[in-house]
Amino acid sequence: MKKTFPFLSIFLILLFCQCDTKRTNVSNKTTALMGLVTQNAMVVSAREEASKIGSDIMQQGGNAFDAMVATEMALAVCYPNAGNLGGGGFMVYRTHDGLTGALDYREKAPLKAYKQMYLDKADTYLTEMSKTGVLAVGVPGTIAGIFKAHEKFGTLPIQTILAPVILLAKNGFKLTDNQAKQFNTYRPIFKEVNQENSIYTKQFTAGDLFKNEALARTLQKISDKGRDAFYKGAIAQTLVAFIKNKGGIISLKDLALYKAKWRNPVVFDYKDMRIISMSPPSSGGICMAQILKTTANFPIADYGHNNTKTIQVLTEASRRAYADRSHYLGDPDFINIPVDSLLNDAYLTKRMENFSFDLATVSKDIKHGTIPGYESLETTHYSIVDSFGNAIAVTTTLNASFGSKVYSKELGFFLNNEMDDFSAKPGTPNLFGLIGGDANAIAPQKRMLSSMTPTLVEKDGALWMTLGTPGGSTIITSVLQTILNVYEFDMSMQEAVNAPRFHHQWLPDVVKFETHGFNTQILKELEQKGYTVDQESTALIGKVDGIRVLPSGALEAGADKRGDDTAVGF
Ligand code: DON
Repeated sequence: MKKTFPFLSIFLILLFCQCDTKRTNVSNKTTALMGLVTQNAMVVSAREEASKIGSDIMQQGGNAFDAMVATEMALAVCYPNAGNLGGGGFMVYRTHDGLTGALDYREKAPLKAYKQMYLDKADTYLTEMSKTGVLAVGVPGTIAGIFKAHEKFGTLPIQTILAPVILLAKNGFKLTDNQAKQFNTYRPIFKEVNQENSIYTKQFTAGDLFKNEALARTLQKISDKGRDAFYKGAIAQTLVAFIKNKGGIISLKDLALYKAKWRNPVVFDYKDMRIISMSPPSSGGICMAQILKTTANFPIADYGHNNTKTIQVLTEASRRAYADRSHYLGDPDFINIPVDSLLNDAYLTKRMENFSFDLATVSKDIKHGTIPGYESLETTHYSIVDSFGNAIAVTTTLNASFGSKVYSKELGFFLNNEMDDFSAKPGTPNLFGLIGGDANAIAPQKRMLSSMTPTLVEKDGALWMTLGTPGGSTIITSVLQTILNVYEFDMSMQEAVNAPRFHHQWLPDVVKFETHGFNTQILKELEQKGYTVDQESTALIGKVDGIRVLPSGALEAGADKRGDDTAVGF
């Protein structure tokens, strides 16, 4: 665990390199800092270019789903540390007539994967193997995902949607300062893993024009021939030959078998909000529902934002929810998840029976809850609302920044290291310090458990918010704190996104706080009550991008100041 956390913090710091240049304007409200406000439609994503391409597609008459395809692929071009063709993701949607659903395009373990594949003969977990290099790669789901969304809801032709993305790859985009620094930092790792130079192994400075012609060609093939170009055609052949040559195990059969899946989202109420979030194989919706349903029993608005008692309630609810996550959650196609029991009010109240405001609960004294009759057996988020009233929340990932670091020069994209999200060995932490067991053990064709939490919120039966974030295990707590910031603490969307965040996940038994923005007296009080406060290891937590519908019907952006995130709309 000691090893995991320094690595995680460096990774998060690099991912969330600071930048403060946002498109924000101050509203007439006395003090509220408002994000960009537009009347019709909006995209908020990690890069201005991607937000603009998505917004332009809607201005041409496309809907939020057309914009999803455009934004997802544009991020693959101009935000390659997380935007991807070689990874996977989740989308939660709400149509203009109030129908909700979720799309799962999470990566899967290859057919040749097996439970102990990252253990040596002495059962020692070879931690690097699930993180870096070709054996860390899960079967990519992103291209299947965008086509599945488009097939059901898209209105513009794929060729129209992909045309500006292909041009972006061909003509290039200007590197931001954050990005130039990040590429330079990773250069030695790219060289070591790939044993060759590529467009990513040069020295960069902010403002450099970055072109990726190989990726433009790959996208052109997808535009011409559809999803099968990636899963069965020319791209599949090249990809599998490349992976095989490096000693990987993903086969043509793995690609041919891959399917994105429609899922029922997790839907629950918090006071008069209805929250719609991602279901398994993400833990996000269930875990957030457990934490928020527990929190609803406490008057946190009276306690105050980021005040001792509020932090205690959220921490203790998180401690219990993450302990359940570790035991009960995994791929629903492989295991039976007792969702109703986990979200049952009486069960959640019972879980908090031993909580007291006087003293922190100790994580080692907390186990997963008992459910009668149950047989145990660098990410990026964008939010879109269109002028028709459709809304989506999408989180997509390669897992770590640039995933496994394996880069196909011929195809122009990086491959994920999502296999690390499985529990490689019970009780041994992964990249995010998460512990798991059999429910999330590796098996061929299984999807690894995720924390990604793309989320929509309704109030009075109408769309109120769409949001999500990267950040591994901290995603769930970042999303729910942002919702509470608006609902309980009266913040604008931009303020809610900017507000300092904290995180607890059962194990390790530590509460992480962003380095800046917390009152030292409150942190001292928490320490006196037995909480281990860590303000050092994670300078920044999450990078939330969201949109709120204002009472007038206009849209307000929350584009996280922690990154280059930008809202564009009309
Ligand atoms: O699915 C998950 O939970 C992780 N693979 C997400 C990784 C992530 O958010 C990395 N970015 N900070």
